[in-house]
Amino acid sequence: MKKTIIKGTGRYLPSRLVTNEDLSRWMDTSNEWIIQRTGIEQRYWIPEEGGVGVSDLGLEASKIAMSRAGWEPGDIDLIIFATLSPDLFFPGSGCLLAHKLGLTTTPALDIRQQCTGFLYGMATADAYIRSSLAKRILLVGAEVHSTGLDISTQGRDVTVIFGDGAAAVCLEHVETDDKKAGVLASCLHADGSLAESLMVYAPASRENPRIDEKMLEERKHFPTMDGRNIFKHAVRRLPEVAGEALKKAGVPLESVDLFIPHQANLRINQAFAKSLDLPESKVYNNIQRYGNTTAASIPLALDEAIEKGLVGSGSTVMFLGLGAGVTWGSVLYRF
Ligand code: ACO
Repeated sequence: MKKTIIKGTGRYLPSRLVTNEDLSRWMDTSNEWIIQRTGIEQRYWIPEEGGVGVSDLGLEASKIAMSRAGWEPGDIDLIIFATLSPDLFFPGSGCLLAHKLGLTTTPALDIRQQCTGFLYGMATADAYIRSSLAKRILLVGAEVHSTGLDISTQGRDVTVIFGDGAAAVCLEHVETDDKKAGVLASCLHADGSLAESLMVYAPASRENPRIDEKMLEERKHFPTMDGRNIFKHAVRRLPEVAGEALKKAGVPLESVDLFIPHQANLRINQAFAKSLDLPESKVYNNIQRYGNTTAASIPLALDEAIEKGLVGSGSTVMFLGLGAGVTWGSVLYRF
């Protein structure tokens, strides 16, 4: 039977370190507030002068992942690029990354599913591999949030959360009789009735796609968030979708060695651990150092967990998250 395995991972962070103290100089916020409400101590943003897009960050992460997997660009059958902050409104960043890798015909697909982009990407890649449509898929999660954030006090609830960054995963097919290898289960969900709880209104096709003064005055190009509502849904959906994947795969909770949740808020992940009665050591957190890097957060944490030796051959890992859409999901994987 065909299964999907992770052959290599890589991460890349831009060099500009932005501390909570930096943010406190630009807007009415404080280190204490940010740490207490989110757990975040610092994040990395692209250089102030800009000129760096997600395909650039994704390229650096991909080079590392591919060298660890022993791949050349020509080995890639499909690129899946998860981001909510693409280089351009269109075309997709997957196309730009393919070009930067020197590829001229390789298909590339963008996924716009915010914090669950990586989970949607994993599930899509697994479906492609199991149905023999591709053997090697480069899955990238990358975000450049900083250029689209409101640095004034008006935007402080959203701005203090987000960081830039990228991570890549090389996914490969394997023929095996072992049912308990590779991707064991994936569960994806969406509820568009909550779309306006976290969104960027414009530019968009619904009303007036032109960027005019009125739109700028009304600050419709900045993200808006009903943080409490998103928080409430995350705390409810994460344990639910973890249980769903375990049931689907027939794997008991105790067999999961490490949960790698999306890094949206340290308190969300602590509430998740508490609701399943998990020890803190079983839930990976690095939001303290990177903030919320949306589609990059889960593969970034995975890359670190591998580097630290927390997961490796024989380990069972669950990736899970909830984000704008709202969308939520889980992927259960055995190394
Ligand atoms: N600094 C100081 N004060 C602030 C800040 C800030 N950065 N932001 C908000 N406040 C103030 C508010 O104005 C409010 O003041 P008031 O009581 O005088 O009205 C007070 O702090 C409390 O605000 P809340 O929004 O109720 O604070 P909360 O404890 O809910 O924390 C937060 C806000 C951190 C945003 C939290 O709700 C959260 O993390 N929500 C989930 C976010 C999430 O998971 N997003 C999804 C992923 S992202 C994606 O998919 C793209």
